Amino acid sequence: MTRSRHIAMVCCSCALLLQVTMSVVSGEGQLRLNFYSESCPRAEEVVREQVQRLYEEHGNTAVSWVRALFHDCMVKSCDASLLLETTPTGAISEQASHRSFGMRNFKYITAIKAAVERECPGTVSCADILALAARDGVAMLGGPAPVGMRTGRRDSRESYYGVVERYIPNHNDSVSTVLARFAGMGVDTEGAVALLGAHSVGRVHCFNLVGRLYPEVDGSMEAAYGEYLRGRCPTAEAAEDTGEVVYARNDRATPMLLDNMYYRNLLAGRGLLLVDQQLASDPRTSPYVRRMAADNAYFHQRFAATLLTMSENAPLTGAQGEVRKDCRFVNSS
Ligand code: HEM
Ligand SMILES: *[C@@H]1O[C@H](CO)[C@@H](O)[C@H](O)[C@H]1NC(C)=O
Repeated sequence: MTRSRHIAMVCCSCALLLQVTMSVVSGEGQLRLNFYSESCPRAEEVVREQVQRLYEEHGNTAVSWVRALFHDCMVKSCDASLLLETTPTGAISEQASHRSFGMRNFKYITAIKAAVERECPGTVSCADILALAARDGVAMLGGPAPVGMRTGRRDSRESYYGVVERYIPNHNDSVSTVLARFAGMGVDTEGAVALLGAHSVGRVHCFNLVGRLYPEVDGSMEAAYGEYLRGRCPTAEAAEDTGEVVYARNDRATPMLLDNMYYRNLLAGRGLLLVDQQLASDPRTSPYVRRMAADNAYFHQRFAATLLTMSENAPLTGAQGEVRKDCRFVNSS
């Protein structure tokens, strides 16, 4: 062996060793494909069956899993902290945060968990169930089928209600704020633009829109779209209350398809939230908006890849946290 080849090989194995050591120290790498292959071989299948069944009953459940995964993962960790309910002893649910306004269908996650518990009691975490449900929900909505979603996440023992607003941006935050928040979970500018493409499905309540409609229609909004939205939201007063206020669909053209219509709408001035519309005008994000508007396959590819990155944000693994029996409550000790 020549000296230079020998040096190259030594360097190579050092780099590998370093990488392995680092990932062990940081707790990463403990998520893996098919984590439950031995402990619960049908886990992913049961989740998929349930997601499919619920989608057929209530199509918007699939929409909910996508938003719920974002809110769960963005706030500290993909640890199902979002799913904990408010308890009599004083812990407040993240679902009660202003940022969670409009979230729905949590009771059906309980149903998916119950089906998984029947298959394998106390084995599959709520954090993994939510991640898998979001993956399968995306596919039901005609989005990409993200391959390679790893599992092995553990559930938090607490809610992070108090810090939700530090992580999840508001509907009218600046592009700089939005990009900084996504960077916090390792998602770059293009990835952030791709993930916002989830706003191709679902709805927005008037409470989050009236700021763009009254007293004047926001200048970046297409005039006809402004008229339409004023029709949906006829007064400037809209309460943060899902019971009494109306809403507008994110994408009137293909409301139940996770496709690139979102970007095409943005280019036409038909973005719904201020954070959406700003992506089309900010020089950091607009090139990606144009590219994704022009190419649905490219959008799907970026969306799938970034969904996986998001789904692996700082998970609890190994002996951290617990595997909750009921996603709504921590296990009693
Ligand atoms: C800057 C970041 C984001 C902000 C400020 C934001 C804000 C919002 C707001 C205000 C709503 C409407 C709530 C309502 O009025 O009912 C909404 C809905 C939604 N968001 Fe986001 N979002 C962001 C990023 C994301 C990401 C990254 C995803 C997923 C990958 C996502 C998925 C959804 C979905 C699917 C809905 C529709 C929910 C439904 O119809 O039930 N959002 N978002
Ligand atoms: C953003 O909207 C909220 C209401 O949802 C409002 O209270 C706040 O003042 C707005 N912030 C900015 C910067 O416009």
